[in-house]
Amino acid sequence: MKRRLRLGMVGGGQGAFIGAVHRIAARIDDRFELVAAALSSDPQRAHASADEIGVARSYASWDEMARAEAARDDGIDAVSIVTPNHLHAPVATAFLNAGIHVICDKPLAMTLEEGEALAQLARDKKRLFALTHTYSGYPMARHARELVEAGEIGEVRVVQVEYAQDWLAKPIELAGDNRQAAWRTDPKQAGRAGCLGDIGTHAYHLAAFATGMLPIEIAAELHTFVAGRQVDDHIQAMLRYENGARGMLWASQVASGAENALRLRVHGTKAGIAFDQENPNELLFTPLGGATQRLTRGRVDSAVARDATRVPPGHPEGYLEAFAQLYKDAARQIEAIDAGVPVPPESRLLTTVDDGVAGLRFIDAVFESHATLVYSRVKNG
Ligand SMILES: NC(=O)c1ccc[n+]([C@@H]2O[C@H](COP(=O)([O-])OP(=O)(O)OC[C@H]3O[C@@H](n4cnc5c(N)ncnc54)[C@H](O)[C@@H]3O)[C@@H](O)[C@H]2O)c1
Repeated sequence: MKRRLRLGMVGGGQGAFIGAVHRIAARIDDRFELVAAALSSDPQRAHASADEIGVARSYASWDEMARAEAARDDGIDAVSIVTPNHLHAPVATAFLNAGIHVICDKPLAMTLEEGEALAQLARDKKRLFALTHTYSGYPMARHARELVEAGEIGEVRVVQVEYAQDWLAKPIELAGDNRQAAWRTDPKQAGRAGCLGDIGTHAYHLAAFATGMLPIEIAAELHTFVAGRQVDDHIQAMLRYENGARGMLWASQVASGAENALRLRVHGTKAGIAFDQENPNELLFTPLGGATQRLTRGRVDSAVARDATRVPPGHPEGYLEAFAQLYKDAARQIEAIDAGVPVPPESRLLTTVDDGVAGLRFIDAVFESHATLVYSRVKNG
């Protein structure tokens, strides 16, 4: 009988956001079982959180958990890291050193140096390091990539990606009752990149995922709209690609009226495609000079979309299933690595530590460009 992989979790205690999403995602395909956790930096809260959701082994701290789990015959196979950003690198390092596979949320680390060291460590230890860029788990985002790869839109010319939210339009971090806002606007916990690291990296990743291309040059501006905020809350960038394509990326957490508006358009020499994360069961495909086709999940002839689909056409799937797809891919890779066999090709779209390093390089390039960016005056009238 196949056994479920034993999963541990660091972060994700009472009142946390993404930890619960990871727990749901890990269960959807029955490949994981949560058996151990250090759910909070406060030991009492960690144990109370673990009691509430029935985790067998609750630890007061993540370093104790890494040591204890590595020493057990039935220790965890993988750990999910769902803490604020500043802990990703130290926690991942401890678990990789303990020989445990890592599934970490984004952004990968506080600095590029930290990120590159993690990538090297994962290679040295021969452990999986998955990074949860959620939006690459959608069937239609995967189909978009497949269409570009197959040349269906021709040579890519224009890449337009945006990620707009409005939940930080006011200085809610000052109220003291929104912990997600508090750490995201504190450079010591979030890193020097605010909106850029939080959702700019998601937009950057989705564009790279769908097109198969990373830009070679960037011109970018960071901006902070909310007075007194210590990190950016809006960024805009222009992208240049090796094949001559041009792109634009903007991300904002102060765009009033925007909920979770991650949108991607890619135009090639033969056709254009458009994906909207708030309507993820479809992908628009428009051939040059032709009518727009609404490609729907469950009906497109696509192996990658089918693999990421769980319910029949017309039943909506969404964010949780996209997240679950990353866990499914991670399970397939962990099982293969542990069995000493090649990872199955159908899991190849899993986002990893290398995507995290690319995101950190993007952050550095944006800061470098922002420091020297020159705007030209418009000679009106
Ligand atoms: N992939 C996505 O779409 C997505 C979405 C939201 C957040 N995230 C990422 O997930 C991470 C967490 O974000 P969130 O919004 O859930 O934050 P959160 O503040 O809601 O949760 C963080 C959790 O980490 C715990 N924690 C802090 N220090 C700890 C320690 N020393 N030991 C154990 N636990 C500790 C906190 O107690 C809390 O439970 C961030 O890196 C964020 O960028 C990713």
